[in-house]
Parts: sequence; structure tokens; C-alpha cells
Amino acid sequence: MSGLQGKVVLLTGASEGIGRELAKQLVASGANLMMAARNLERLYQLYGEMDGGEQVRVCGCDVSDQQQCQNLVAMTLKEFGCIDVVINNAGITMWSRFDDTQDLSIFENLMRVNYLGAVYLTHAALPCLKTAKGQVVAIASVAGLTGVPSRTGYAASKHAMIGFFDSLRIELKQDGVDVTVICPDFVVSEIHKRAIGADGQPLGDSPMQEAKIMTAEQCARLSIEAIAKRQRLLVTSLRGRLGRWFKLLAPRFIDHLADKAIRDRH
Ligand SMILES: NC(=O)c1ccc[n+]([C@@H]2O[C@H](COP(=O)([O-])OP(=O)(O)OC[C@H]3O[C@@H](n4cnc5c(N)ncnc54)[C@H](OP(=O)(O)O)[C@@H]3O)[C@@H](O)[C@H]2O)c1
Repeated sequence: MSGLQGKVVLLTGASEGIGRELAKQLVASGANLMMAARNLERLYQLYGEMDGGEQVRVCGCDVSDQQQCQNLVAMTLKEFGCIDVVINNAGITMWSRFDDTQDLSIFENLMRVNYLGAVYLTHAALPCLKTAKGQVVAIASVAGLTGVPSRTGYAASKHAMIGFFDSLRIELKQDGVDVTVICPDFVVSEIHKRAIGADGQPLGDSPMQEAKIMTAEQCARLSIEAIAKRQRLLVTSLRGRLGRWFKLLAPRFIDHLADKAIRDRH
């Protein structure tokens, strides 16, 4: 059992990928879980698979809409009476060099979902989190710590997310609310197939060498351990952890590694 047993956790992006695995493992850890995403059918399918009973609730929410984030918090309070942990996991990505990108609306969408979605939800949940002396979790990315080619807009949204949550952590110190930032490296999930390409459409097939990257199950397990410890930062890969320090000493070498990681796709 993790330290999350009996806690009320609000999780976005629970219908697919890392969020789906987080949901399963949180319920197995004894947390009370509100699962949110846009695709209600996928959420109810997961609900059926988990047999979570009274421990689990489902709510449709597009995090890029502030009103829907407020409704999600209200629904969680109605069902469970409090919120201990908010996990901002919902996210989208792109796969296109900037000079190949025709439709710049992807840049706006990335900021709306990845950054503003987390801002809206965290703002709505903040009074309850203060009462509970709870925790906000940001599922960011190693692309929030360094530049990544073909991901300009995604990296920008994740840098924004980390800047926001690092600042919020300082503001909330006196309230006893902790902020955990999680930076996964590549993970097997739906996000690579759904990545928006140069033509503005989802790629359809994953360009990643999926056998070489972390599974969503592993990523969820590491994330839950870090959340239970109320850890400040988790970077899931060794190259991600070392890269933070090397970047200070040899930034061009880190640029080279990021370029290579995208070319090799793992
Ligand atoms: N996979 C990786 O390699 C990787 C690496 C680093 C960080 N991350 C981060 O991990 C998080 C989860 O990604 P994933 O890889 O698990 O992707 P995924 O398999 O595509 O799942 C993304 C989830 O976000 C939800 N979502 C997307 N847009 C939404 C919106 N507007 N409102 C509400 N929910 C929305 C999706 O549900 P609906 O479509 O049903 O709404 C889905 O449940 C993201 O923040 C991502 O940036 C992933």
C-alpha cells in the first residue's frame, strides 16, 4: 500500500496511456479516484475493468475549458467531499519541424491543453487543496527541461508548465500544499500516434521504437512512488537526470543528444 490509501485523487487524462495506468495503480493502492478525460466511453470501459465500485467516479472534462475544470472540481467534491491530490496528466503533442508546420493553431492548442488546462484545474481545486494540506502533481516531460527538435510547441508548453508549478510551489509552502513535478522520458502510450504532424493531422502510427522505451505501467509506478513521498521532482530516465547537470556544463552536447534521441526515436 502506498501513502495514498484513502486519499481523494483527481486525475485528468485517465482514458489512455500513462493516465490509464495511473488510474489502475491508484485504485489498487486504495485511493478514492475521480477519473477525467473527454472520451467517456473509454473511461467507463476502464471503470468496468477496475471494478472500483464506490472508490471510483468518472467525469467528462475538456481541460482546455475553464468552466469544465471548475465543474470537474465541483463534481469531485460532491462525490467525495474533499480533494487531497490533483494530478494534471492530460496532454497532447506534435511531431513536426517548425519550418515544415503550416497551421500554427497547434501551438495554441498545445498551450491550452498542456499548460492552461493545468492552470485552470489547479486554480479551481486550490481552496480544497489548502484545506486538505494536499498536493498538486504536474505530469510534465523531459521536454520541459531541455529543447527537443520537432517538438517546439510541446517543449514550450512543458517549459511553461514547469515554470508555473515551480513558482506555485513557493507560494503554497506556507499553506502546506506540496507540488510534485514529474518529467517522463519517452513512454509507450497513445500520444505518439495522436501527435499532430506538419499537415495539422494526427500521425496515426507511432514513429517511436516502442520496444526500447518505458512502458506506461513502469512510468505510472515510478510516478505514484514519487507522489506518495510528496517528492519535488521526478525525472524518470537516467539520461534525463544526468542531462540536467550536463546541460549546465555542455549545452551543445545535450542539444546533440536530444537531436539523436528524436532521429533514433527512443
Ligand atoms: N508518452 C510519452 O512519451 C510522454 C513523455 C513525457 C511526458 N508525457 C506526458 O504524459 C501525459 C500523458 O500522456 P500519454 O503519453 O499518456 O498520452 P495519451 O496516451 O495520448 O493520453 C493522453 C490523455 O490526455 C487526455 N486528453 C487529451 N486532451 C485532453 C483535453 N483537452 N482535455 C482532457 N483530457 C485530454 C486524453 O483523453 P481524451 O482524448 O479522452 O480526452 C488521454 O486520456 C501528457 O501530459 C504527456 O505530455 C508523455
